[in-house]
Amino acid sequence: MFDWKVLESEMDELKENGLYTYIRTLESPQGAWLKINGKKVLNLCSNNYLGLANDARLKKAAVEAVEKWGVGPGAVRTIAGTLSLHEQAERELANFKGAEAAMLIQSGFNANQAVIPSIVGKEDFIFSDELNHASIIDGCRLSGAKIIRWGHLDVKDLEEKLKTYTDARRRLIVTDGVFSMDGDVAPLDKIVELGEKYNALVMVDDAHGEGVLGPNGRGIVSHFKLEGKVDIDIGTMSKAFGVVGGYVAGNTTLIEYLKQKARPFLFSSAPTPPDVGAVLAAVKVLEENDELVKRLWDNADYFKQAMKDLGFDVGHSQTPITPVMLYDAKVSTEFSKKLFESGVFAQSIGYPTVPKGKARIRVMISASHSKEDLDFALEQFKRVGKDLKVI
Ligand SMILES: Cc1ncc(COP(=O)(O)O)c(C=O)c1O
Repeated sequence: MFDWKVLESEMDELKENGLYTYIRTLESPQGAWLKINGKKVLNLCSNNYLGLANDARLKKAAVEAVEKWGVGPGAVRTIAGTLSLHEQAERELANFKGAEAAMLIQSGFNANQAVIPSIVGKEDFIFSDELNHASIIDGCRLSGAKIIRWGHLDVKDLEEKLKTYTDARRRLIVTDGVFSMDGDVAPLDKIVELGEKYNALVMVDDAHGEGVLGPNGRGIVSHFKLEGKVDIDIGTMSKAFGVVGGYVAGNTTLIEYLKQKARPFLFSSAPTPPDVGAVLAAVKVLEENDELVKRLWDNADYFKQAMKDLGFDVGHSQTPITPVMLYDAKVSTEFSKKLFESGVFAQSIGYPTVPKGKARIRVMISASHSKEDLDFALEQFKRVGKDLKVI
């Protein structure tokens, strides 16, 4: 019989090292404030950048989609699961992203599993930023291609590696757009130049860029004015869009090919009608005006500056993601616990989500926060920071 104690002692070790993840259960919908364990706490953790997860317009669209289409897709896309609703969302997403075509997929995680192994295989090389998201790493591993990691954001290193590793059928450069744990931005303009110079495909994962970067939150490709120049643009509907689901955007050949080859598209059921209905409403909200995107950035600038003034190390984020660097996993866990006791929910993040010795509280600012909310958070950070002698 399998000895489950082995797994229990592994988890005990995680607890001893401050690396065990305690999962909090929400007793209220997503928003600036949450109810957890019967207690009202300020939410500084979720990816609900624009506050759309509980937005009346998206909820109405989801309910209408249920009324019209039902709750489930009934099949994978290639058999009987493609609704005209999916195709409408794909057209509107492509238009929003400035691409020829787009394909919906169940999640951002799946988008990486769908694209990377379809495009590259054993005969190929992948050039991957060393801090790329786990879903990119897994997609790369699944492909069987040789993976060459380049230094984080270091285009010189990328160029050296492109010069060195040439003997492949196909070469793919892949990067996060906005790095989810540090909030820094990939130098996509320079990466595209290198892709053109060395004849390599370029793929970006815009999970934390859409709804955040570029005009009306169109994402990193628009931010750098690179429409039509990035071969593969993938992303998620689960962060700023406030829903769930993923997409791939690119030229019509890429999308047609993926619909033949991408295994999560072929072998996992289609996104559900309410999700797709809500995604369409989210695109409409963003296209209509940039008020929420502006509020998000105002809030982020205000909070980051105030944290720096208090003496916190907030890393080198260029976006609303604000890592409060504590380095030591135990200090970070303790910090998060004390914040929670004082009414602020801000999770500690440690290894393996970030490298060992780089533990932090990752603050996620949202357009749904008021200035009073942010001042309350700053007050609690100051108190706990002094208490734990971090500032
Ligand atoms: C860069 C990146 N890619 C993909 C994902 C996964 O997205 P989803 O939650 O839609 O699966 C995330 C979410 O954490 C992410 O940060």
